[in-house]
Amino acid sequence: MQEKNTKIQRISPSHPELNKIKEAAEIIKGGGTVAFPTETVYGLGANALDETAIEKIFLAKGRPQDNPLIVHISSIAQLDDLVENIPEKAYLLMERFWPGPLTLIFNRTNKIPDRITGGLSTVAIRMPNNNIALELIKHSGLPIAAPSANTSGKPSPTNSSHVIHDLSGKIDMIIDGGSTGVGLESTVLDISGDIPTILRPGGVTVEDLLTVLPEVEYDRAIEVIDKNIIPKSPGQKYKHYSPNAKMIIVKGSLEEIIQKTTQLAKEYESKGMDVGIMATKQTYYKYKNENTLIVGDRDFLETIAANLFNVLREFDETNVDIIIAEGVEEKGIGKAIMNRMKKAAGGVIY
Ligand code: TXA
Ligand code: MG
Repeated sequence: MQEKNTKIQRISPSHPELNKIKEAAEIIKGGGTVAFPTETVYGLGANALDETAIEKIFLAKGRPQDNPLIVHISSIAQLDDLVENIPEKAYLLMERFWPGPLTLIFNRTNKIPDRITGGLSTVAIRMPNNNIALELIKHSGLPIAAPSANTSGKPSPTNSSHVIHDLSGKIDMIIDGGSTGVGLESTVLDISGDIPTILRPGGVTVEDLLTVLPEVEYDRAIEVIDKNIIPKSPGQKYKHYSPNAKMIIVKGSLEEIIQKTTQLAKEYESKGMDVGIMATKQTYYKYKNENTLIVGDRDFLETIAANLFNVLREFDETNVDIIIAEGVEEKGIGKAIMNRMKKAAGGVIY
């Protein structure tokens, strides 16, 4: 691929400068690619109605062709062109969670290029809760297709330096709008059928959804790592979030975690390996390893969500051969944290 001259544009997250937003919007309108912050992770955006523009996203990321994209909107009125019908429960969900980290799967109209949906009859749509993202969509006057702005397979970017690392020279513009808040991608909820089904756990938890919906299911493919189960969300079947080093997860009570992590670290070191430990505020002082990083505070799982991808990328800057990562309780946002950690570890759990 030919190197592009990628413009890095700093924009204020609280008061986005209009002239800078307009410049980025012109790129989108002209069929170009712009990476921008959302409240979850950075996205790599292009005009969702332009096949050629969308193709540039796949190329820059090295993304598998059948993995569909999320379409980002800034007003509910934009849905009319994009979806076939809006079910009653969608209104409840949009009212409560938009703008915010919830992606809804609708039956699509034929205005949406096949390139977006990978040929599916449905389309994923969300309204991000970030001023820069909302202004960019509004001023481009278009729905913006945007996957996470990382090289396919790598952890999603939570600040502009992650995006610069992965995509500089491959896209037209990278907006630097500070660190994202949530740190994990949106929850993907399929509402195209009878029972709302979570295809990817994320920023909005099942507990949150149940305040609005009478029932919610998880797609089986989230729980099981089994090649015979075909996930409804094509993205779930690919290798994801992978640091360079091999990673394993340790689960159990706090005591068990500390004891097992210490024991495994010793075992790997005696084999001559450089060991990294992904610890928490509550446990790090128990470990003697040089490469021990604190991912966050167990009493506030949001801190772990916000920092997980950053820590996975920090391990790439060290020379560790293996990362021993402490698991967390799978409640609230812990469900999404463990989903990403299991994918990063390829399912290796103690
Ligand atoms: O928070 C987020 O959702 C971020 C920011 C940038 O908005 N975006 C993001 O996009 O994570 P991406 O492309 O990395 O993940 C999109 C996920 C994939 O797992 C994909 O398979 C699924 O959504 N998806 C997209 N369209 C779908 C559809 N029609 N049916 C089922 N799953 C779909
Ligand atoms: Mg992604």
